[in-house]
Amino acid sequence: MAGSRLDLIAPVAPALLIGARGFDDLSGFDPASSTVVQGLRPDHDALAGRGFTLLPTLGDLPPGDGTFQSAVVFLPRARALARARIAAAAAALPTGAALWIDGQKTDGIDAVVKEMRGLAPVDDVQARGHGKIFRVTVPAPGWLPADWAAADTRLPDGFVTRPGLFSADGVDPASALLAAHLPAKMPTRVVDLGAGWGWLSAQVLARPGIETLHMVEADADALACARLNVTDPRARFHWADATTFALPEPVNGVVMNPPFHDGRAADPKLGARFIRAAASLLTGAGRLWMVANRHLPYEAALAEHFGDVAEIGGDNRFKIISATGARRAAAPKGASRLRRR
Ligand SMILES: C[S@@+](CC[C@H](N)C(=O)[O-])C[C@H]1O[C@@H](n2cnc3c(N)ncnc32)[C@H](O)[C@@H]1O
Repeated sequence: MAGSRLDLIAPVAPALLIGARGFDDLSGFDPASSTVVQGLRPDHDALAGRGFTLLPTLGDLPPGDGTFQSAVVFLPRARALARARIAAAAAALPTGAALWIDGQKTDGIDAVVKEMRGLAPVDDVQARGHGKIFRVTVPAPGWLPADWAAADTRLPDGFVTRPGLFSADGVDPASALLAAHLPAKMPTRVVDLGAGWGWLSAQVLARPGIETLHMVEADADALACARLNVTDPRARFHWADATTFALPEPVNGVVMNPPFHDGRAADPKLGARFIRAAASLLTGAGRLWMVANRHLPYEAALAEHFGDVAEIGGDNRFKIISATGARRAAAPKGASRLRRR
């Protein structure tokens, strides 16, 4: 866990923390003088609840280098996002300030230490818990390659994505397979749980029948791209945790390609919670269409929450499931109502 090395450093306030998660031990930081950039809604809400100032995306950082005196970058696995976070922290700090970078070996911290040594003064490299934390003393502006700064990517088919997003380089094959198995005519009110940057939602809206499509996504960067990619007025955007998402009225369709990883750790229980959430959103006659990696054991969750479950297609990697007869569970604890942004 990233936070297990934070007690090794003494950051100067006011501090900027980019990418801290809800489970990180931030006890060495005074929430009153610390700002966290975190766009995953459950983590964002957990940290805001502890009194920190939260910003959902790097683009929300104030311009200039006067606000913060130190920063900690939590290294993500995606290299482009790691660079974007380092560039944002550097831009937010004055020359001479400490920029700490913390990361796991499995996320490439050793390569980052090496790369940063070639760009700036690096010291205080400390190892613990299969990872490292180290300090970069920020040189005068212009020390980082300009292309490290976060930039949206426009894919050849026109969709906009951002570093670190799921399937940022193109359409996910599982989503493409699911889209190929959707009916020619869709129900009137549909929810896309975990809508990402919006490709699957765009395919849903291209079919006749839809009156309203609710796009539910936990990642603020993904949802920002989805807003650019899906300009259809029938779309509603919800920055929310899909596993606790609720609407005032039930819908008659849900589509989803649920996540089964949280960071590096595989967590099939997350998909099971999406199945439960889908059932809680649907009418009894409504229908779920979902895609999953073939090896993922979702059958028990599907049987628990739906009366009629069928595999309607797939290949050796993915299975396409259609389910109806939702048994509406009581709204999950902490269920959100129409969180919009
Ligand atoms: C496998 S991707 C599918 C994305 C998109 N539907 C597509 O087809 O390309 C799963 C998405 O779920 C999002 N996600 C993960 N956990 C979530 C949660 N608790 N609530 C809402 N969205 C979540 C991820 O950010 C990711 O965009």
